[in-house]
Amino acid sequence: MTTTPARLVRADPGPPYEITFDGRPVPALPGQTIAAALWAAGIVAWRTTRQGGAPRGAFCWIGTCHDCLATVNGHPNRRACLTPARPGDAITTQNGTGHDDLAV
Ligand code: FES
Repeated sequence: MTTTPARLVRADPGPPYEITFDGRPVPALPGQTIAAALWAAGIVAWRTTRQGGAPRGAFCWIGTCHDCLATVNGHPNRRACLTPARPGDAITTQNGTGHDDLAV
């Protein structure tokens, strides 16, 4: 029998559920953050910078760097590394400040 981290700590996660990233279904497990669910699905970038549009994703994983900002259910600037995924969450790529629709 293969030993896994979940088996070592006798974890018994609840059933998986689904979130979406730019409309694409992404599986998530209870307790996962949005960043963890995206990474597990092979998605490592979900934001672009204001200057130059460079791709960004999770970097520090502790809420300090703000590289992981995402738009969650229409709300920009959510730190994906700290925000728990919830069933049905719609995550979308955040370009720039996430407030382009407010530009004057
Ligand atoms: S990865 Fe640094 S704040 Fe989320």
